Amino acid sequence: MGKVLSVASECVPLVKTGGLADVVGALPGAMAPLGWEMRVLLPAYRALRPHLAKMALVLEEADLFGGRGQVFFGQIEGLELYLLDAPHLYDREGGPYSVAGKDFADNSQRFAALSWVAARMAREGANGWKPGVLHAHDWQAGFAPAYLSYGGAAGVGSLITVHNIAFQGWAAAGQLKELRLPLAEFHSAGLEYYGGLSSLKAALVTAGRITTVSPTYAAELMRPEFGMGLQGVIAARAGVVSGILNGVDAAVWSPEAEPLPYGVKAMRGKAVNRAALCAEFGLDVPGPLAILVSRLTEQKGIDLVTEAIPDFIAGGGGLAVLGSGDPALEGAMLGLAARYRGRVAVRIGYDEALSHRMFAGGDAVLVPSRFEPCGLTQMYGLRYGTLPVVSAVGGLSDTVINASPATMAAGVATGIVFHPVDSLAFGQALRQLLALHGDKGIWTNVQLSAMRHPVGWEASAQAYARIYEDLAQ
Ligand code: ADP
Ligand code: GLC
Repeated sequence: MGKVLSVASECVPLVKTGGLADVVGALPGAMAPLGWEMRVLLPAYRALRPHLAKMALVLEEADLFGGRGQVFFGQIEGLELYLLDAPHLYDREGGPYSVAGKDFADNSQRFAALSWVAARMAREGANGWKPGVLHAHDWQAGFAPAYLSYGGAAGVGSLITVHNIAFQGWAAAGQLKELRLPLAEFHSAGLEYYGGLSSLKAALVTAGRITTVSPTYAAELMRPEFGMGLQGVIAARAGVVSGILNGVDAAVWSPEAEPLPYGVKAMRGKAVNRAALCAEFGLDVPGPLAILVSRLTEQKGIDLVTEAIPDFIAGGGGLAVLGSGDPALEGAMLGLAARYRGRVAVRIGYDEALSHRMFAGGDAVLVPSRFEPCGLTQMYGLRYGTLPVVSAVGGLSDTVINASPATMAAGVATGIVFHPVDSLAFGQALRQLLALHGDKGIWTNVQLSAMRHPVGWEASAQAYARIYEDLAQ
């Protein structure tokens, strides 16, 4: 069996702020049937430290950026898991990156430490387990391929997966030495990034292969509108870049497996689920009930919802929102709920169980993102017959087939795709949603083709396996 060490800052079901966690948590299970044993390395955040008692110490680092680091291994929540315990870096109040809305000032060191240990484990192995491939995710693990390459790779291949180019792991040039990076590599083809450092750039120039989470995003990343400063770096390595779509974990997102009253098969159960959801949210909606489950940020196009929704409400639609994020956008959503009582309802917060009930009971899911590397909620929508209304960017373009006369005649339409990403086009898409919902025959056909559309991991796992095989040579 080939061995892969996957390094990240989040992993379901242990720690999650977004889709990164879903993907890191699902990959080991997706790769195992293809003969790849994947172990995951995470920081031992405060909430994860209770697991350490059930795990075995496998590696020690006497000085890990200002304190001792210890790596523990165990089988936790179905994962083959390494936790890096370094209390001076991770045992604190708050989330993985911030407390009370403020990023930790030492995030560069915190994730450099994770990456340092990952590179050492890849090079030397730990307790007799040595991977052939180091798989780093996003900026938090970005220095791992760099440390591995600069310190001698010992035959281990490395891969960086870009889940979101917006977060680049910026650090000041003055931190070079403290972050244990070689001065000789501080040049434009190496570590230097607009006069400073970026852990993501470090990975992009040192990893053997680069992947991102959809084919369209892979192409977009080489253009200035989406590359956010790194487009040239990625374009220069176009030969090793690939886009591999995320999958959905069918064991977690399965209409058939939802608890009652949601447990009835999605098509037959939709009306029951919808009624329960309306009751839970205090909604009474004659037309399509749209849902939005999202981080409330600029990326997600939440401001477009505020602008486009009045006409949708006037046309009979309704909206249930679950999300948290930017206080101004949270306020805007609450404002809509106050203005359209009974037709718009909002829950600010993070609630996994409620999100399941929303996919089970909604008619449509809105994803009007400005950019979207892959996106998962449109795929949950497909599985539950909750038709996705998405902007034509990144993974949204790659997973949803717009209901045009041609695609409907061919019986392959799965949702509504709009372009450009502005409130006018989004408003038109919502009008199209109202019309589609008004014709029960067509609506049911689109729902059925949405539910048939494959959103599992199988094809993508094979694509990762091909890359691991190349790297492990
Ligand atoms: P991103 O990672 O950019 O936030 P994705 O669509 O890839 O976007 O993944 C978001 C994940 O987080 C999905 O699993 C989604 O259901 C979940 N999610 C987002 N906001 C909430 C929330 N408020 N409550 C529950 N789940 C949420
Ligand atoms: C990022 C992206 C999202 C993607 C997720 C998992 O958070 O914003 O589009 O689905 O990573 O790859």
